[in-house]
Amino acid sequence: MLSRRNALKAGVVTTGIIGTAGVVAPTLTSGSAAAADTGTAAPAVIPQFAVPLTIPQVLAPVMTSGTTDYYNVTMKKVLKEVVPGKPTEFFTYNGQLPGPTIKARRGRRVVIRQTNQLDMPTSVHLHGAEVPVDSDGSPMNTVAPGASKVYTYPNNQAAAPLWIHDHAHHMESEHVYRGLSSMYLLTDDREQSLGLPSGQYDVPIVIRDGRFDENGQLIYVMDDFLNRNTITVNGRPWPFFQVAARKYRFRLLNSTNVRFFVLKLSDGSTFTQIGSDGGLLAQPNVTSQISLSPGERADVVIDFSRYPVGTQLVLENLLGPGPAEQVGRIMRFDVTRTAPDNSTVPARLGVLPAPRQGTVNRTFTLRMDEDGRPDTGAYINGQTYDPNRIDLRIAWGTTEVWTVTNANQFAPHNFHVHLVQFRVLERNGQAPGPAEAGLKDTVQVLPGETVKLVLTFNSYRGVYLFHCHMFDHGAMGMMGTMEIA
Ligand code: C2O
Ligand code: CU
Ligand code: CU
Repeated sequence: MLSRRNALKAGVVTTGIIGTAGVVAPTLTSGSAAAADTGTAAPAVIPQFAVPLTIPQVLAPVMTSGTTDYYNVTMKKVLKEVVPGKPTEFFTYNGQLPGPTIKARRGRRVVIRQTNQLDMPTSVHLHGAEVPVDSDGSPMNTVAPGASKVYTYPNNQAAAPLWIHDHAHHMESEHVYRGLSSMYLLTDDREQSLGLPSGQYDVPIVIRDGRFDENGQLIYVMDDFLNRNTITVNGRPWPFFQVAARKYRFRLLNSTNVRFFVLKLSDGSTFTQIGSDGGLLAQPNVTSQISLSPGERADVVIDFSRYPVGTQLVLENLLGPGPAEQVGRIMRFDVTRTAPDNSTVPARLGVLPAPRQGTVNRTFTLRMDEDGRPDTGAYINGQTYDPNRIDLRIAWGTTEVWTVTNANQFAPHNFHVHLVQFRVLERNGQAPGPAEAGLKDTVQVLPGETVKLVLTFNSYRGVYLFHCHMFDHGAMGMMGTMEIA
């Protein structure tokens, strides 16, 4: 169902070069081929900072036992307003956009019965989680239209901002684009003991982009990175959020298909990153920019107590492609009141196990066609994804060192591994920066870059995936399989 008609655009991805240290050169070269496709409808005009941020509902279990919380979720189409007066048809979990947040606690199992009321197969993946293979939502293990499937999540890992999204073979890209995305916040005793901002001061910020036509409908074209210029946060276009002059914790998730962000506050001031994909950093990282590629999360604390009531701050994005007056803005924080604050950001956050010594080395070359051919391929070590082929055989219990290189000249990639939270050992031969010093499941690999990762395979056995998490690239073939046995 994915048209490859416009896939050649992938060959001209140029998002500007991001130093992972946080330095940005927002150099944007527009892809000639991509610019040619303007679609059939004029883009919708949407006012900015005109609607309030909404907070995804926390899903209530249908049943709980001593060990387990049970949930029911239905995948269905629903109309939601992004373009004023022109509701968009989205694919949703439970009719919500993004889907409801699931709150889980380490050591307590979560069981979700997913019912598919869409007219195509789906597969539900819990991104970043250590889960048995039958619950990993692998591309061929789908839920047929009208059917249900029960997913079981053991939650035997550190507190982390995880993410539920679709993974049906060759449809994940379009399905996620059309809305199948939910946050899954796993907590543990350690996190609860730290005194971080909590309750209404702990807010998911799920950022994505989209291309809407004049009727308010989403246009999906494979690798349409130049035209998805409407930014939404928690399903609302460029919302404002009324905050108190105190500390807030924000769980930032880049849930776009192919867009990279470099986020900053409009006054250039600093905030504190406390966690990354797989959980809390060992210590806070005070920074003025956060770089997020598709699938990456950052857990940050912003202290609004330094601003007088009445201040408005825009969360900005330094990176294209797209018009800066659209993609350069994400949302606005309006400081509207004062409030007591007894939260803290302690100097010691997560407890990270020391990475083990790797005994197996592997190399991965990510590359996609950049020569403008009409049927762009995207490869890992020269091969496109084949669900019937096992690319790596890994002995259970092994620790491996993976060296991942982006061989493209223009196209950025990232690299996501199912099942394990890994550590970044090196980026281009140097130690990783503070934002990458914790547990990661998705790592940026910009053109010409090489990252070295260490991964330990000591949880479940079975066939799992690794892939570029620019969904459109994955759908073009930049995905592989590993069997842990
Ligand atoms: Cu976000 Cu294969 O996953
Ligand atoms: Cu994943
Ligand atoms: Cu890629």
